[in-house]
Amino acid sequence: MTAPIRENLSGLDLRAEIERLRKERNAVILAHYYQKPEIQDLADFVGDSLELSRKAADTDADVIAFCGVKFMAETAKILSPEKIVILPDMDAGCSLEDSCPPEQFKRFREKHPDHIALTYINCSAAVKALSDIIVTSSSAETIISQIPEDQPIIFGPDRHLGGYLNRKFGREMLLWPGVCIVHEAFSETELIKLKAQHPGAPVAAHPECPPHIVDHADYVGSTSGILQFAKTFPGDTLIVATEPHIIHQMELALPEKNFIGAPGADGNCNCNICPYMALNTMEKLYIALRDLKPQIKMEEGLRLAARKSLDRMLEMASGTVGKGDLGKR
Ligand code: 13P
Ligand code: SF4
Repeated sequence: MTAPIRENLSGLDLRAEIERLRKERNAVILAHYYQKPEIQDLADFVGDSLELSRKAADTDADVIAFCGVKFMAETAKILSPEKIVILPDMDAGCSLEDSCPPEQFKRFREKHPDHIALTYINCSAAVKALSDIIVTSSSAETIISQIPEDQPIIFGPDRHLGGYLNRKFGREMLLWPGVCIVHEAFSETELIKLKAQHPGAPVAAHPECPPHIVDHADYVGSTSGILQFAKTFPGDTLIVATEPHIIHQMELALPEKNFIGAPGADGNCNCNICPYMALNTMEKLYIALRDLKPQIKMEEGLRLAARKSLDRMLEMASGTVGKGDLGKR
């Protein structure tokens, strides 16, 4: 359980304090698109998983304050071991990471020795260390297209992203049975009703969505791909089937357009807010910068093993940053 904040911060101008500490610490603040708007607004960089990995590798800051979830902050530490990496709330996990304990993944690999392991970045450092190549939703297509068709593949831990790639590339990758609880919560019935209320409005979906949602999408891609689609689609209303905090960036870029979060089973999209991402707050970011904790620590042998599969991704995906998408179906 997350420890409650015990001190009284009510008299503090948190934004000004974070600004002061960012300079004092020579810190860079990275935020994923699923963070609260106030955190996105003060971040040095807002991006998808691949972009944030690259930023983490490139920055010359002494401290990386990672406003995202633990596997993302771990990725930053794997790529920048000399830096202090802080995560405002160490309980900010991920249901995909939780679905894939390293010992079980190791046994699964041992049962399929002729398969390579292509693994979604939403996993622990230990699972990265057991994998051959990491992918993000924005690099997966480029990477799969470089793997010979006769090479058997294990894909984990997201069975929906893996299934989407299997369908799109005609592959038969063995899928680990993990899901994202956030994207799993969209309701097809409610989505059909919403589409009927907004005739002609396209649907943009993240490939972590199950097939019954992806099948209604006009565009399928990573968070940065969806954002790019939102900036270029010709209509005035877009239905967005991913975590709704990304809509903040859409509204900043295109205030005249209408962006509607796809609904959950009760018709209310609140169930699609990622509970892990939501653990990060301005208060916790301030405390993390002030105290330089909680910090990501990693044993060097594990870090080096995990780095191999991440480096493989960065090499194979080079040239894809900014495209950020898996393309149209
Ligand atoms: P991307 O930002 O890479 O699309 O990933 C989405 C996600 O699930 C983050 O947890
Ligand atoms: Fe994990 Fe889903 Fe939250 Fe992304 S949105 S961090 S995949 S639980």
